[in-house]
Amino acid sequence: MVTIETSIASKTIREKNMQKYFKVILNPRFCYLAPRNSIHTSMGAEISSSLRGKLRFIHPKFFYDKKGSELFEEICSLPEYYLTRSEMEILDSIGLELSQFLVQDYALIELGSGSAKKTRRLLEALIGRQETVEYYPIDISNVLKESSASLQRDYKNLKITGILDQYENGLDFIKSLEGKKLIAFLGSSLGNFNNKSAIRFLNKVHDVMRTGDLFLLGLDLIKDKRILESAYNDSQGVTGRFNLNLLTRINKELYGNFDLENFDHVAFYNSKHSRIEMHLRSKCEQEISISKINLSIILKKSETILTEYSYKYTIPQIEQIASKVGFKIEKIWYDKNKFFSLVLFSV
Ligand SMILES: C[S@@+](CC[C@H](N)C(=O)[O-])C[C@H]1O[C@@H](n2cnc3c(N)ncnc32)[C@H](O)[C@@H]1O
Repeated sequence: MVTIETSIASKTIREKNMQKYFKVILNPRFCYLAPRNSIHTSMGAEISSSLRGKLRFIHPKFFYDKKGSELFEEICSLPEYYLTRSEMEILDSIGLELSQFLVQDYALIELGSGSAKKTRRLLEALIGRQETVEYYPIDISNVLKESSASLQRDYKNLKITGILDQYENGLDFIKSLEGKKLIAFLGSSLGNFNNKSAIRFLNKVHDVMRTGDLFLLGLDLIKDKRILESAYNDSQGVTGRFNLNLLTRINKELYGNFDLENFDHVAFYNSKHSRIEMHLRSKCEQEISISKINLSIILKKSETILTEYSYKYTIPQIEQIASKVGFKIEKIWYDKNKFFSLVLFSV
């Protein structure tokens, strides 16, 4: 009786969720859902309010148009950007240990899947043991389509339902899934949330989990300031181009008049708050107008637009977060330098 009621409830939630999306079926093993309301609408509204405020900022989720996703991939292989290498090192070494936690069949859900290179390690832990693996990548960027197509070419028993949307909406969607879930959130993307919103977000992840579900979270650890700062100020200037590309995107999509020559990329470690801050600093007093959102503002010389926080953590902080949210820590893995951690939670 309970099972029937639960499955009717899940079906209703699923149907309600489906109304938000249109579904593109590329083949029997690969479809993706795209929101009916274009991202451009919310991007305009959000940027309009965040640029008018006293503290000017642009949310980091807007980095990832096609060019932004390509530049992020370039960042991942920079010598200074230890984050990807360290997390990959962990993923390369934990396959067997991770599979010991995967005692039944699991669907893999990935928040911010990007190029899905790390995903391959997780799939390898699942694919040998399961007849089929259901994979639900959730990403705001169109890169999801390419990375999913590439996974599908390489793994035959993989069934992919991509969700081209923000993390929170993707979580609403997967809430109604039946069966066990392994949710992955890699790349230290949680670090983009301030402490309060990180807890709110993790509560949302907790809400979609049931007994036996697992959550694998990649978090960057506090370390020498010079190592941290050089990861966001690489010698080839790729991170600077990634940061400035936000302005190019706004010029293109919202008809802005940003002159990239008038901005500097600035990234530094704020030790009081244990976070890297990334800004775009105005080189001169200038008038910015973005015609699609009727915005006109004056930026003073040296005034900055905040574009990203990247919080760094200690293990006691991670334990504290887990206890606030009600997660049980099953395991913490590190790379050999202890630069990065992968934490496996259950509920
Ligand atoms: C820092 S990259 C990490 C990519 C990959 N997981 C990795 O570890 O290399 C963040 C990814 O999340 C996506 N993303 C960023 N903010 C998002 C949001 N609010 N909702 C959904 N996807 C988001 C980006 O498009 C990008 O692919």
